[in-house]
Amino acid sequence: MVKNHGLAGIVVDETKISSTKNAHLIYVGYPIEEIAQASFEEVVFLLWYKHLPKQTELVAFRQDLVNKMVLPAETIRLLLYIAKEPQHPMSILRTTTSLLGTTNDVEHDEPPKILAKMLTAIAAIIRIRDNEPLMEIDPDLGVVENFLLMMTGKKPSKRLAKMFSTVMILHADHEFNASTFTARVAASTLTDYYSCLTAAVCALKGPLHGGANERVFEMLETIQQQQIDPLKYLQDQLKAKRKIMGFGHRIYKDGDPRARILKQIAAELAQTTDNQVYYQLQIKIADYMFARFNLHPNVDYYTALIYHCIGLEKETFTMIFAACRTVGWLAHIMEQRQEGSLIRPSSVYIGPTERHYLRKVGDHNE
Ligand code: ACO
Repeated sequence: MVKNHGLAGIVVDETKISSTKNAHLIYVGYPIEEIAQASFEEVVFLLWYKHLPKQTELVAFRQDLVNKMVLPAETIRLLLYIAKEPQHPMSILRTTTSLLGTTNDVEHDEPPKILAKMLTAIAAIIRIRDNEPLMEIDPDLGVVENFLLMMTGKKPSKRLAKMFSTVMILHADHEFNASTFTARVAASTLTDYYSCLTAAVCALKGPLHGGANERVFEMLETIQQQQIDPLKYLQDQLKAKRKIMGFGHRIYKDGDPRARILKQIAAELAQTTDNQVYYQLQIKIADYMFARFNLHPNVDYYTALIYHCIGLEKETFTMIFAACRTVGWLAHIMEQRQEGSLIRPSSVYIGPTERHYLRKVGDHNE
């Protein structure tokens, strides 16, 4: 019998990108609590090239990424149709990622260009769905400021950009999580970057992975708008054997280090955007889940409120996760490509055996 369903605890490969050993998250050796203070571009550079950039390298890297945050006219033309479809934004993103692979130079595009295009495409999907005009980059701003500008139509304050940069860093990589592993499996076949990213987006979409942040806000809205007693809501969900979204983690059984930092950002943004009612509700729910089940919030829990405070619709939350995680996906695709071995595990067959096909030609009635 296979005792490790879901590959829990199975070491499938080595990596130099990030680690969650002993429930401490590190990026290329730096603890997440420290590296979260860096700039987004520094962290992208670190995860891809395994060392921090010198100041001149950082300036050039940032400018290069920003300059690449434009989409070909053909991508925009098709995106204007696709993004309007009444599908979930993550389905739109799945098709868009694939579209990027058909309207760009699949053979030659490298990670900086691919990341820049993913961010721009995600911002464009949001704008098109909101019936708002697409925004152009401001070459004097960094990647995070431009991403916010292209999503919301407004140049963000320095403080908001700093907080959002931290959010993006915290989501940038997480070892062999489900979507990253999916990207690595695809990369191991030596398929192109865009194909690997499309596969990763598909895996991230599910509610047990990146799809949880949207459902966290759905829960908060339901409780708030219908004026339900939050504890009764939780008890009813648990009685119906439903999981409470935004709680629990395969690795962090004593709390997700990212959630601790995100909690502070959510508290500040909730205050400045008059959303304290949701923050207070989150605290009440978290207290109950800990006291009753010893379950802690994960990365998706406070992020849901952060995105709401920025003015995003809950259906788009997982796309923002995808935007940030594209950094890590690309790092892992590069690493897997260098490794050059096909991922192809084995399974234990538990179906029927000793069967024999005795039907002769002409016995078919169908
Ligand atoms: N609500 C209620 N009970 C929970 C929750 C939850 N959110 N999470 C875990 N539990 C319970 C399980 O029911 C199980 O109880 P049991 O032993 O009595 O059967 C026990 O805690 C262990 O949980 P598992 O699901 O076996 O733990 P696993 O490591 O497989 O799952 C997971 C981790 C999938 C994240 C799980 O906690 C979950 O479904 N959480 C809700 C969805 C969520 O927030 N996903 C985002 C995760 S973070 C990310 O992917 C970015």
